[in-house]
Amino acid sequence: MYIVTGSTGLIGFTASEYFLKKNIKVIGIDNDLRAYFFGKKSSNKWKEKRLKKNKLYTHYKTDIRDRTKIINIFKKYSKKIKAIIHTAAQPSHDWAIKEPLTDFDVNAKGTINLLEAFRKYCPEAPFIFTSTNKVYGDAANFLPLQEKKLRFEINKNHKYFKKGINEDMSIDDSTHSLFGASKTSADLYVQEYGRYFNLKTVCFRGGCLTGENHSGALLHGFLSFLVKSIVNEKKYFIFGYKGKQVRDNIHSMDVVKAFHEFIKKPKKGGKIYNLGGGRTNSCSILEAINLIEKISNKKSKFKILKKNRLGDHKWWISDNSKFIKDFPNWKIKISLKKSLEQMVKFELKN
Ligand SMILES: NC(=O)c1ccc[n+]([C@@H]2O[C@H](COP(=O)([O-])OP(=O)(O)OC[C@H]3O[C@@H](n4cnc5c(N)ncnc54)[C@H](O)[C@@H]3O)[C@@H](O)[C@H]2O)c1
Repeated sequence: MYIVTGSTGLIGFTASEYFLKKNIKVIGIDNDLRAYFFGKKSSNKWKEKRLKKNKLYTHYKTDIRDRTKIINIFKKYSKKIKAIIHTAAQPSHDWAIKEPLTDFDVNAKGTINLLEAFRKYCPEAPFIFTSTNKVYGDAANFLPLQEKKLRFEINKNHKYFKKGINEDMSIDDSTHSLFGASKTSADLYVQEYGRYFNLKTVCFRGGCLTGENHSGALLHGFLSFLVKSIVNEKKYFIFGYKGKQVRDNIHSMDVVKAFHEFIKKPKKGGKIYNLGGGRTNSCSILEAINLIEKISNKKSKFKILKKNRLGDHKWWISDNSKFIKDFPNWKIKISLKKSLEQMVKFELKN
């Protein structure tokens, strides 16, 4: 039996379906707070309905901020719990500014609630946390970047050019956004529970996580929302950087397969890994638009706004080497093109 928080979100849903297919019982915790954050259109209820059809799945509409209720769920299943996959979050930089206290309570307090319940009732299980590259703040913006025709690019001789940014980048002295700060707090707690109590905790610091299971919204889920906008011929707004900001995109299935590798051979001591699509799955927004236009045969309507989001990355490519060194069976299997094709197909169908 696995506990999955945020079980109807992009990553939680993909993880739930993946492990249910392997005949593992899943206890899903999700109160569809995403609809509160980003509006009804980004509600994940459709995925809740799909999961509930599976007899191995049990849903709790519990808020991870509710310490007593979370403790009670862990107490109820206690020793049966073989892994915890914590993906529930307030996931957007921009939304965090609206309600900093809610952002903190969901991301930081929600995480320590889960860590305490886990330490008390199933400390042998691996605890997986979906962290973010925003823990490094905007440090990447101070790398030697050059402006090319369609994207920012790092100097060819730089150590990050080939493989991307590794875990050595400092998390200090940069602008994180309030969201980045609440996630960093959670990331440090997850590490600390691993180190201080010698538990099997891990932080996956994600780049851009994507796939057809994302309920993309203006403020979160850039590729999903971009695909929706182009396919449905809606205007898309790009926040600054001339649309040349680079993201590395990883399909949710490749993310979940990385979780699975860790669950099979968990390590103690609070591990941290960057996890993203790497150079081959990277694109700028302008490049993504070109790709989606080709795949969907539709013309995009976009507007580039002058102002960028505070602390937003100009260029980010994750170096997955540390994870691959520890878990050599894992590699990226789904290309950016394939992800986009699946997303366009899904959007046209729905
Ligand atoms: N999507 C990305 O590009 C990306 C990048 C880096 C890191 N991450 C991290 O990965 C994780 C998963 O992201 P995602 O894209 O699947 O997000 P998502 O919004 O699709 O899923 C998160 C789920 O958590 C639920 N949730 C939120 N607050 C809750 C609460 N208080 N109690 C119970 N449930 C709650 C939401 O309803 C939602 O279904 C998050 O921690 C996010 O910060 C995502």
